[in-house]
Amino acid sequence: MDATALFKFHSGLYVVSAQAGDDIGACIINTGLQLTSDPLQVMVAVNKQNHTESVIAKAGHFALTAVAESANMLYIGRFGFRTSKDYDKFDGIKCATTILGDPYTPENAACVLACDVVKTLDVGTHTVFVGEVKDAANLDDDPVMTYSYYHSVLKGKTPPKASSFIGEA
Ligand SMILES: Cc1cc2nc3c(=O)[nH]c(=O)nc-3n(C[C@H](O)[C@H](O)[C@H](O)COP(=O)(O)O)c2cc1C
Repeated sequence: MDATALFKFHSGLYVVSAQAGDDIGACIINTGLQLTSDPLQVMVAVNKQNHTESVIAKAGHFALTAVAESANMLYIGRFGFRTSKDYDKFDGIKCATTILGDPYTPENAACVLACDVVKTLDVGTHTVFVGEVKDAANLDDDPVMTYSYYHSVLKGKTPPKASSFIGEA
C-alpha cells in the first residue's frame, strides 16, 4: 500500500482551542471539516496524546480558527510543535474569547467558530469531536492556508500526532 496517495486529499490548516477552568489547550490541526449546514456542524480530529484533546473533552466546547496564508512558521511552531501542557500558547500574542469561553487568537486567523461538542467518536489514536456552531465570524479577507501550501511553500513537516503522519517527518 502506498500511503502517500493520501497526500492528494486536500485540507486547510486550523487552530482548535478550548478552556476548562484554568486548563487551556490549543493546537494546529488539518482535520477541520464542515459536516452539515442545518444545523451548522463541523468536526475536528484530535490526537489523544495532545493536551488539547483532554481540554476539549472536559470543556465540552471548542473554538476553531482557519489559519491565514500569511501565517509564518513561528506561528505554526507555537501551536503545532509545542504542547500547551507546560506552555501558554496565547502568552505574548493577541487573545480573544468566544461566546462559549474558549480562547483564540485573531492574529493569522481568517475566521473563527464557537462550537459546542454534540458528539464524540473514538477512532483509535484520535478523538473526533463534532461541534455545533453557535457563533461564527470572518476576521480577515486574506487567503486561507492549505495543507499543500504549508508543505510546498513553507516546507513544513508533518508531526507524528497529526492524522496525516506517515513517517516522513
Ligand atoms: C501541519 C500540522 C498538522 C497537524 N494536524 C493535526 C491533526 O489533524 N490532529 C492532531 O491531533 N494534531 C495535529 N497536529 C499536531 C499538533 O498540532 C501538535 O501535536 C501540538 O503540539 C499539540 O499541542 P497540545 O499538546 O497543546 O494539544 C498537526 C501539526 C501540524 C504542524
